[in-house]
Amino acid sequence: MPENENRQWVLKSRPDGMPTEADFELIDSPMPSPEYGQVLIKSLWNSMDPYMRGRITSSPIGGVIESEAVGRVMESRLEGISAGDIVRGRIGWQEYGLLDVTSANPVNPDYGPISTSIGVLGMPGLTAYFGLLDVCEPKPGDTVVVSSASGAVGAVVGQIAKIGGCRVIGIAGSDEKVSYVVDELGFDAGINYKVENVSEALGVVAPDGVDCYFDNVGGPITEAVMEHLAMYSRTVICGRISEYNESEPSMGPRILRYVHSTRSRIQGFTVNQYPAQFEDGRAQLARWVKSGEIKYKEDIIEGFENCPKAFIGQLRGANFGKLLIKVSDE
Ligand SMILES: NC(=O)c1ccc[n+]([C@@H]2O[C@H](COP(=O)([O-])OP(=O)(O)OC[C@H]3O[C@@H](n4cnc5c(N)ncnc54)[C@H](OP(=O)(O)O)[C@@H]3O)[C@@H](O)[C@H]2O)c1
Repeated sequence: MPENENRQWVLKSRPDGMPTEADFELIDSPMPSPEYGQVLIKSLWNSMDPYMRGRITSSPIGGVIESEAVGRVMESRLEGISAGDIVRGRIGWQEYGLLDVTSANPVNPDYGPISTSIGVLGMPGLTAYFGLLDVCEPKPGDTVVVSSASGAVGAVVGQIAKIGGCRVIGIAGSDEKVSYVVDELGFDAGINYKVENVSEALGVVAPDGVDCYFDNVGGPITEAVMEHLAMYSRTVICGRISEYNESEPSMGPRILRYVHSTRSRIQGFTVNQYPAQFEDGRAQLARWVKSGEIKYKEDIIEGFENCPKAFIGQLRGANFGKLLIKVSDE
C-alpha cells in the first residue's frame, strides 16, 4: 500500500434485512494528518460488535463504518500521549484514524494483551460486569440464565455469576459452544437452542425457575425463558440480536403475562450508563483474568479486507468468542 493511503470500508447501500458484502465498499483515502490536540493511530485490532447492525441503519451512505479499534500512535499532537503508545478509540473500519482528548483512551499494557482492551477488558466485558451485577443483582444460590452464552458478553456474564456463587445456565447455538461454556468455563448446564426446545430444557435444568436472565438475543429464546421466571426475578435486556435485521419487531407483548404473575423486573440497559465506574470495572475484570477465574476466547479473522464478511458471519452466529479483525501486526 502506498504510504499516503488509508484503506476504509464505507457503507455503499443500506441493507434491507441481513447485510450482504455488496452493501460495503473498500476505498483508498488520503492518510489523515493530526491537527493540534489530535493523535494519528494505526489500527492493530478492530472490534466487530452486533450493535453495528443498528448503526448502519442510520449512518450515512459513503461514511466509514463505525467501530472501536485499538492501535499504535504514529504521530501525536496531543499532550500526554506519545508516538508508540497504544490507545483505544472509535476510529471505525479504517487502517488509520484520528482521535482527540475526548476519544483517545490509553491502554494499560499491564492488564494483558492489547486485544483484550476491546474484549474481555473492554466494552463487552464491562457490559457483562455492570449488566449482571448492577441490574440483575444476583445472589449466591440464584439460577442465572444467559443467552448468546459463548459470546464476548455472555461468557463473562456466566463466569462472574459463578464467582458470585450462582447456578448458571448458558443458551448457545451449537453443541461445541455449549460444551465450551459447561466444560471449559464451568457453567452448570447448557442448552443448544438450535436443536433443543428451550422451554422444555429449562424445565429440566432450572426446576425452581430462573432468578436472573441476562438477555442478549430477544425473540423466541427470551419468550421461552420468561415461562420459567422465578418469583421476583430480574431480567436485563442487554441485546436483541435475533431482531437486528428486522424492520418490524416480530413479537408482541406475549411475555408480559409471566412478568406480571411472577412480579418480576425487566430493565433495559446499555453499558454507556456507567462511564464513571469503567476503570474500577476494568481493574476487577483484569484481576479475575489474571487469577484465571475468568477465561476468554477470541475469534481472530486476519486481514482488514475481511471486515464485512466477519461482521455478517457474527450476525449469523459464525463467531465463537470475541470477534476481532487483526488489521496489522503489533
Ligand atoms: N447493552 C449494551 O450496552 C451492549 C453492549 C455490548 C453488547 N450488547 C449486546 O449483547 C449481545 C451479545 O454481544 P456480543 O458482543 O457478546 O456478541 P457475540 O455473542 O460474540 O456474537 C453474537 C452471537 O449472537 C448469536 N446470535 C446470532 N443470531 C442469533 C439469533 N437469531 N438468535 C439467538 N442468537 C443469535 C450468535 O451465537 P449463537 O451461535 O449462540 O447463536 C452470535 O455468535 C448482542 O445482542 C449485543 O448487541 C449490548
